[in-house]
Amino acid sequence: MTVPEGSQIRGKSVMVIGGSRGIGAAIVASFAAAGAAVRFTYAGSRDAAEALAEATGAIAIQADAADRDALLASIREAGALDVFVYNAGLLGVGDPLTLDPDAADRLIDVNVRGAYHGSVEAARRMVDGGRIIAIGSVHGDRMPFAGITAYGMSKSALQGLTRGLARDFGARHITVNLVQPGPTDTDMNPADGPLAQQMHDEMAIRRHGTADEVASLVLYLASPPARGITGAMHTIDGGFGA
Ligand SMILES: NC(=O)c1ccc[n+]([C@@H]2O[C@H](COP(=O)([O-])OP(=O)(O)OC[C@H]3O[C@@H](n4cnc5c(N)ncnc54)[C@H](OP(=O)(O)O)[C@@H]3O)[C@@H](O)[C@H]2O)c1
Repeated sequence: MTVPEGSQIRGKSVMVIGGSRGIGAAIVASFAAAGAAVRFTYAGSRDAAEALAEATGAIAIQADAADRDALLASIREAGALDVFVYNAGLLGVGDPLTLDPDAADRLIDVNVRGAYHGSVEAARRMVDGGRIIAIGSVHGDRMPFAGITAYGMSKSALQGLTRGLARDFGARHITVNLVQPGPTDTDMNPADGPLAQQMHDEMAIRRHGTADEVASLVLYLASPPARGITGAMHTIDGGFGA
């Protein structure tokens, strides 16, 4: 992981919602390696969270992002934040005619409601010039397969959140950005999974991306040279959406 030249990540107070595994864990590790003071939440993966905390020096907090009170309490405990990253996300795949409505609601709670409430609470206690970064998906722009309606809808909603909050908090020089990965090798979407070839067929660079590649982009958006970038979608998808 290379810290962007001229960055001043060292000493920054960073909070990552959903940081125990995958892309979130890479973001936690990258900020910690750059010298930030990092806190992250997780829901169910206690062992992974504790191992990551041990390895990076970050602080792990058990808080379900779908539980608004728990989410807000975890953010309030962090004090004045420089960087807030909302990474928590659930993937729901299936025919909407048969998809469990409770599973769809849970997906929306984690992917959208948590992102809204978490970002607003973070901004309340954020320093001027702070950074809010959410992790969306290329499926917020493009859905070339059936069966991902609720997921794609949730990631499109984050685009509205990003544009709106950029306007709401711009006077304080807080930037708000959305990182939109394409297929990325994690538990959610393994590079050797059954749909991998179908995804690669849609890509210009026919491989899964890595969590570290996504984390590098997040780190850049949190760095001083990115101070003028806000209200924007940043797709990192190997050309999946091209
Ligand atoms: N992998 C891809 O191909 C891909 C592509 C586009 C976008 N994305 C997006 O990138 C983000 C990370 O995905 P990933 O692939 O790294 O997924 P992952 O491997 O399934 O990891 C998801 C992370 O989110 C946390 N999380 C999930 N629900 C949570 C909740 N209710 N409260 C707190 N934390 C919660 C998980 O923590 P616990 O395990 O502790 O619950 C875990 O740390 C998601 O928003 C996803 O939609 C991924």
